[in-house]
Amino acid sequence: MRRVQFFDTTLRDGEQSPGVNLNAEEKVAIALQLERLGIHVLEAGFAAASPGDLEAVRQVGEAVKEATVVSLARAVPGDIEKAREALRGAENPGIHVFLATSPIHRKYKLNMTREQVLEKAENAVRLAKKYFPHVEFSMEDGGRTEKEFLCQVAERVIPAGADVLNVPDTVGYLTPAEYGEIFRYLKERVRGIEKVKLSAHCHDDLGMAVANTLAAIEAGVEQVEGAINGIGERAGNTALEEVAMALATREDHYQVVTGLNLREIAKTSRMVSKLTGMPVPGNKAVVGANAFAHESGIHQDGMLKNSSTYEIMRPETVGLEATQLVLGKHSGRHAFRDKLSEMGYRLPEEKIDSLFIRFKELADRKKRVEEEDLVSLVEEKWGGEEEIFTLETVQLSYGNRSVPTASVRVFDLRRRRALEEAACGNGSVDAIFKAIDRVTGEVVHLEDYKIASVTHGKDALGEVFVKLRQGDSTVQGRGVSTDVLEASARAYIHAVNRLAGRLVERKGETVPASSGS
Ligand code: KIV
Ligand code: ZN
Repeated sequence: MRRVQFFDTTLRDGEQSPGVNLNAEEKVAIALQLERLGIHVLEAGFAAASPGDLEAVRQVGEAVKEATVVSLARAVPGDIEKAREALRGAENPGIHVFLATSPIHRKYKLNMTREQVLEKAENAVRLAKKYFPHVEFSMEDGGRTEKEFLCQVAERVIPAGADVLNVPDTVGYLTPAEYGEIFRYLKERVRGIEKVKLSAHCHDDLGMAVANTLAAIEAGVEQVEGAINGIGERAGNTALEEVAMALATREDHYQVVTGLNLREIAKTSRMVSKLTGMPVPGNKAVVGANAFAHESGIHQDGMLKNSSTYEIMRPETVGLEATQLVLGKHSGRHAFRDKLSEMGYRLPEEKIDSLFIRFKELADRKKRVEEEDLVSLVEEKWGGEEEIFTLETVQLSYGNRSVPTASVRVFDLRRRRALEEAACGNGSVDAIFKAIDRVTGEVVHLEDYKIASVTHGKDALGEVFVKLRQGDSTVQGRGVSTDVLEASARAYIHAVNRLAGRLVERKGETVPASSGS
């Protein structure tokens, strides 16, 4: 069977989702999980976009050992140099150079003639090939480009050294038949086309990204691009887990193999959702909470007789096991550490220590500590290196006819002292957030607040996501607890820590944020 490789852009196009902002540590965590999933090419970011992006690409490039790690670059020498700088220490470095080719982009965005586009594309690929063993070239807005011009671009970049040629449907405009036709056209007409891998990259503006990607596979592409959970610019990118499961479930039809480790799908989806703060809709294909739930009596009866009556995929195939009781309040640190490593987490000892304290608190309050709960605890702690304030206590006075009042006690690790403040608010959460503002002295604006439950039942963990803005920095915070008000306080402090950490960096203070002064 033919082999199709997966190019994941969760950390680049996915991170372009409005409001998503991953730090380097989170990007590395996701990248390592994508590697466990078996992703072949991983786009770590856009090195030239900012020093922070460059640093994140560098860290991902050094952490990932198997997959090829690429940085996006415009077709200009400066961007290619930045990508080179970022990936100097990477095990398998690559670059993804792009230039718009469509008449609309040539006229309104680039103000360039066809000949100028051809020259710029060729020069960029030639330079990129000097530095990188793996060069992908993308004809941005390829879906709306004249087919014969796509052929001309291809015939310039292939001899210049492109290894992969990508035709993105940048604006999600094409139908599956039209998109597949582009690849058939290129394969028939372009001289040297056999020297490159053709790649599909689709956006979901009309809800056709996955269908278009599958049509491209039928037309013979050897690489597909997308993001986990379909996150990305505007309506998002192709959801890679959906393509993977379509290919596996309908192998009889597509006749291709991917080599992916499908059992890692659920975990990858969960991690991306938590670290980006983008919840997965319940009815989402493959990874939604209801994707394997059967509600109607007739369906349940069929399922009991034989699961194939209403289920075309088994939940275990994507790594959704029946809920297990994993640890309880009598479990020791050793068992806790073993469980985390069995779940694939490689964490430093100090992190395990602080997580163990949180686990014990949780086990006291919650009878059944499930794998999902542990995932939430661990993922609440990514980015914990910037910890400046920690929540000690939160108390609330609430009545439906009185003004809610909160008092919070927070430990300030810089000054090594506990601080206490109280505040009123127009609701309990508002009062807590105002009290935290007073304690920390940070001026921040709450841009978003989301709440979700981690598992089921009365004692389920509540998980809160907040988005805070300070000047032109926006960060996310996450908090979990069996109590949603405590989870709210934790999420808010997590976000404040990230903002305060950035401020310390920007002011160039010599004292590390957590070492006291
Ligand atoms: O959608 C798009 O065209 C892109 C390019 C940068 C490949 O993301
Ligand atoms: Zn894109």
